[in-house]
Amino acid sequence: MKKPGKWALETVARACEEARAENRPLGILFVCLGNICRSPAAEGIMRSLVEKAGIADRFKLDSAGFYGGHRGDLPDSRMRHAASRRGLTLTHRSRTVRESDFDDYDLIFGMDDNNIDSLRRVAPTLDAERKVLRMSDFAVSYPGADSVPDPYWEGADGFELVLDLLTDACSNLLEVIEADDQR
Ligand code: 4NP
Repeated sequence: MKKPGKWALETVARACEEARAENRPLGILFVCLGNICRSPAAEGIMRSLVEKAGIADRFKLDSAGFYGGHRGDLPDSRMRHAASRRGLTLTHRSRTVRESDFDDYDLIFGMDDNNIDSLRRVAPTLDAERKVLRMSDFAVSYPGADSVPDPYWEGADGFELVLDLLTDACSNLLEVIEADDQR
């Protein structure tokens, strides 16, 4: 069974501990390229999971992208429709990643190599860079997935795959966070 690596688990544990010590919500930012397909879906899925678990107030969730061409837009209509068939309403408005995100969020998840390289490049400090994680590392039911692939230029199947991967990854991330709470 695939498991998030030791380093990723330690990063989550450190983030949980810091948020707990400072008695504030755990900040999680999801990042992709356009911030209209993958990352707003991840944000919506995570929000729905923590709401269902009755612990939404313990999280600060947002998403962002590196390409500003869709700034202010709702998620792509194909993603909104695919998400709504799963009971999710996506209302995020696209925005670009800013340097202050590294102060404002404890964990920053990139969807693919491109996003992760960009995040590492703009991280202002080494500590900031250490917040960057790979979303697909938490998709334990998909051992072959080393990214959440960009569905923008793909057909409908691409959007379903993204939602499958993100649902698995967000559920497992929440499990790791909740297990940390029990320690
Ligand atoms: P996302 O998908 O990164 O998952 O939001 C994309 C959306 C738009 C573009 C690329 C990827 N674009 O080039 O416009």
